[in-house]
Amino acid sequence: MKSTEPLTDENQGVSQSNNDRLLRALLRQPVDRTPVWVMRQAGRYLPEYRATRKQAGDFLTLCKTPELACKVTLQPVERFELDAAILFSDILTIPDAMGLGLTINEGEGPRFARPVRSRRDIDALKIPDPEGELRYVMDAVRLIRAELGGRVPLIGFAGSPWTLASYMVEGQGSREFTITKTMLYNDSGTMERLLEIVTASVIDYLNAQITAGVQVVMLFDTWGGLLSTRAYDRFSLTPMRRIIDSLIRNIDDTRIPIVLFTKGGGQWLEQIADSGCDAIGLDWTVDIGAARRRVGDRVALQGNLDPAVLHASPDRIRDEVKAVLDGFGHGTGHVFNLGHGIQPSVNPEHLGALVQAVRELSVSYHE
Ligand code: CP3
Repeated sequence: MKSTEPLTDENQGVSQSNNDRLLRALLRQPVDRTPVWVMRQAGRYLPEYRATRKQAGDFLTLCKTPELACKVTLQPVERFELDAAILFSDILTIPDAMGLGLTINEGEGPRFARPVRSRRDIDALKIPDPEGELRYVMDAVRLIRAELGGRVPLIGFAGSPWTLASYMVEGQGSREFTITKTMLYNDSGTMERLLEIVTASVIDYLNAQITAGVQVVMLFDTWGGLLSTRAYDRFSLTPMRRIIDSLIRNIDDTRIPIVLFTKGGGQWLEQIADSGCDAIGLDWTVDIGAARRRVGDRVALQGNLDPAVLHASPDRIRDEVKAVLDGFGHGTGHVFNLGHGIQPSVNPEHLGALVQAVRELSVSYHE
């Protein structure tokens, strides 16, 4: 079935898209089948992405050129029958706009020339103006919405304050984030001050994305899972709760769902479900059926196929898709996704097999 059915009385008020499965599933309203999109769906595994990145020169220029960011956002939507587009950008646009000197080199990951290490560094930070330094992101959102013409909803996103602060203090990705955690334990007040500034920045940034046209927002808390339970609540979940409380929740009577994804957060699903978010992103280590029993009808769930499954054969991919659908079980409230981003070495045809499997196999869970 092509996803172009018109708005009916029943689904009015949840979206301005012809295909509103994603929005409906995130709000736990009935759907005809489980919607599907994947994290990093516009990325290096796609030859057309690599060609456009080459045209741009580098990744950050690609992000900062709205026409090209729009082009790569649409590439996976045009190749596969996905139920959502996700803004092509990065979580590190905020610290970049704060002047920390971001570079992202292939194979090396992100690096900041001027990490923040002291109270003085933190006091000097300014909250970026979303229509100023970050206007390129809002221009990309406006352009993508126009180019999508309502085919599928557009997801906007930001990093969680804790995840952004981890990169800003460490200056790069890390396994242990030792410098960041030393600040957290030695000087919690300074860490909280940093989190306050980043939280205020994320609120302004996401509200501007919503005003510019994103229809769902997702918070990527990639490094929340590195924290102890006590520290997670104080330094990661509390700032995210503050963001959720401050976001525009409705545009023209249309609800903007919020998805909260803490990688490694499987232990804390009850607390996350109480944060005010509409849906929880699950990584692949979590049993989705058990997760559903734990959160009940409070929130929807998004996930959570192991990204490595996409290296297996199309038949095995289909079996594993079935297992995730089966794990969630009957009824709405599930958005199919990977448990983390798609890996650059995946054969694009294997993602096609995943999408096809979800489209075919999920129907029976909604009858
Ligand atoms: O999902 C999408 O398709 C939207 C685009 C998107 C990107 N980054 C593009 C990207 C999103 C949602 C992100 C979020 C992001 N960025 C996160 C949170 C999600 C996660 O993966 O946990 C994080 C931690 C970052 C920071 C970041 N940006 C890293 C660690 C890297 C290097 C990754 C690598 O594999 O080298 C980036 C760069 C980046 N962001 C790429 C893409 C497509 C690869 C850049 C390239 O083309 O070389």
